[in-house]
Amino acid sequence: VFMNEISEFRVLESEIKDKLQLEHVIIVSGNSDEQLSVKHDLGKACVQFLSSILTSNQTIAVTGGTSMAEVANQMKPMEHAANCTFVPARGGLGEQVENQANTICAQMAKKVNGNYRMLYVPDPLSEDTYHTIIEEPAIKDILEMIHDSRIVLHSIGDAITMAKRRKASGAVIDKLKNENAVSEAFGYYLDEQGKVVYKVRTVGMQLEELAFAQYVVAVAGGSSKAKAIQSYFKQGKSNVLITDEAAAKELLKG
Ligand code: BG6
Repeated sequence: VFMNEISEFRVLESEIKDKLQLEHVIIVSGNSDEQLSVKHDLGKACVQFLSSILTSNQTIAVTGGTSMAEVANQMKPMEHAANCTFVPARGGLGEQVENQANTICAQMAKKVNGNYRMLYVPDPLSEDTYHTIIEEPAIKDILEMIHDSRIVLHSIGDAITMAKRRKASGAVIDKLKNENAVSEAFGYYLDEQGKVVYKVRTVGMQLEELAFAQYVVAVAGGSSKAKAIQSYFKQGKSNVLITDEAAAKELLKG
């Protein structure tokens, strides 16, 4: 049974790879909506993949969220990759502290004996503050590191779930509903065709910049995220997907 499952997963992986036009797909068994252990496995798979690509003196940009928090949880020392630095991909997006990118970066760095930098910016930013803050030398410095990251780790969320979790205003939620937002990643909300319908105003990585990173790894599982994953990849330049069996099977139906 075990061997059959392995080969079944290799087939699933290549089907998803073709469907979403990705370089690399990793699928773990189960449904992370239903079992916490599957979320742990997603985290482990991401750590394993990171370990296979990471070399010394690299910068890794990471987003927030419970999936990334689990990646941090599973992180292991990587002796072959000394002096790496974790940076948050974007400024605050309204998450609880344990799910914030800053917190996750610090945890990841601690586990791999690496470094981290934090990005302290209020969110959401007003237009004026935005323009002033990006000129602050300390902020400029870290924004450059984010921009130069060779590796980006992020998750993908369901649009309305994420807006509510971030306590977005009624007006924003209405806009997302009216414009049929399906997915969210990096503070961008996208519709089924991958069109950006709303964006949280904050500093850091812009969707277009993903094209400059060598590895952009999305970690997102659970059948409830299938539509969001599909919508995100219509736009997002991520080239690796780490997901679970339930999301993968649901994706292939759509
Ligand atoms: C957020 C990220 O923190 O987490 C988003 O900024 C992502 O890009 C979201 O969509 C996903 O959260 P979770 O908890 O489902 O992993």
